[in-house]
Amino acid sequence: MSNLVVLGGGKIGEALIAGLINSGIDPQSITVTNRNSDRGQQLRETYGVKDLTDNEQAVESADVVFLCVKPKGVLDLLAEISEAVENNDDPTVLVSMAAGLSLAAMEDVVVAGTPIIRVMPNTPMLVGRGMNAMATGRFVTKEQAEEATALLSAVGEVVPVAESDMDAVTALSGSSPAYFFLVAEALVDAGVSLGLTRQVAEKLVTTSAAGAGIMLAESGSDPATLRANVSSPAGTTVAALRELEESGIRGAFYRATEACAKRSMKLGEASKAPRESNFDEDSDS
Ligand SMILES: NC(=O)c1ccc[n+]([C@@H]2O[C@H](COP(=O)([O-])OP(=O)(O)OC[C@H]3O[C@@H](n4cnc5c(N)ncnc54)[C@H](OP(=O)(O)O)[C@@H]3O)[C@@H](O)[C@H]2O)c1
Repeated sequence: MSNLVVLGGGKIGEALIAGLINSGIDPQSITVTNRNSDRGQQLRETYGVKDLTDNEQAVESADVVFLCVKPKGVLDLLAEISEAVENNDDPTVLVSMAAGLSLAAMEDVVVAGTPIIRVMPNTPMLVGRGMNAMATGRFVTKEQAEEATALLSAVGEVVPVAESDMDAVTALSGSSPAYFFLVAEALVDAGVSLGLTRQVAEKLVTTSAAGAGIMLAESGSDPATLRANVSSPAGTTVAALRELEESGIRGAFYRATEACAKRSMKLGEASKAPRESNFDEDSDS
């Protein structure tokens, strides 16, 4: 069984750990690190994984190391673990989950030849329905790419993408769960405004969202067909859809995804600047 290490047990790190364990991976083969030992203890008690605060110690004998810290911390973290990774008897593959950070920027701070994979995940991996877009660096072997794909497949879908597409990928899958949650939140408030209790409104909205999600994923029909199927002529749904269209919902998504992709691009550009002035404090996915 491979030794797996998750550096950074935050939202994505925890989602990954939970998904891997749900898929049957032995929790004792997973080591998680955080700077704050309370968080490590919490993850150990919840999932039965090993926890450390020392990243160098954690990557000793690791087969796959997932980098799940904020983008602004990734290059320093790579510099911190690089020698320890190099000293491992068997090659260790590093898998970065960070938005924006290019493979070239990461390869620059580690020992030459270290295999690095860049992944854009999303939080539905917590429930085994994650979307992981993956671009492999030049030193990654076919076997390493296959192992990373197999592990990420345990927590959702994996699609190989060109690294140049990563900013668009971030806008479409990395950040999009938040767009759907915002729509759900707005609908619940709208239901309360129509006189429903919040509890009933939440039940109606979350069940409809989950059902629509499964139809999108499993019916084999495209979104436009599914929408047309619930739009009877002069019916209630088209009355609502017309309001959404007149309110500019499509334009809002074009602008939102452009802003997201631009932000991802900016994180990538910041990674080319000197490390100490790299990122804004709030930089994330
Ligand atoms: N959240 C999303 O939906 C999403 C989607 C796609 C991609 N991503 C990417 O996933 C990565 C993680 O994001 P997140 O939302 O999970 O962030 P997060 O919740 O802030 O988690 C980061 C974790 O890393 C730990 N950490 C920070 N520096 C560390 C270090 N030097 N050594 C060990 N642990 C360290 C932090 O804990 P301590 O402070 O205790 O160390 C924290 O638990 C980011 O690069 C982001 O771009 C996130």
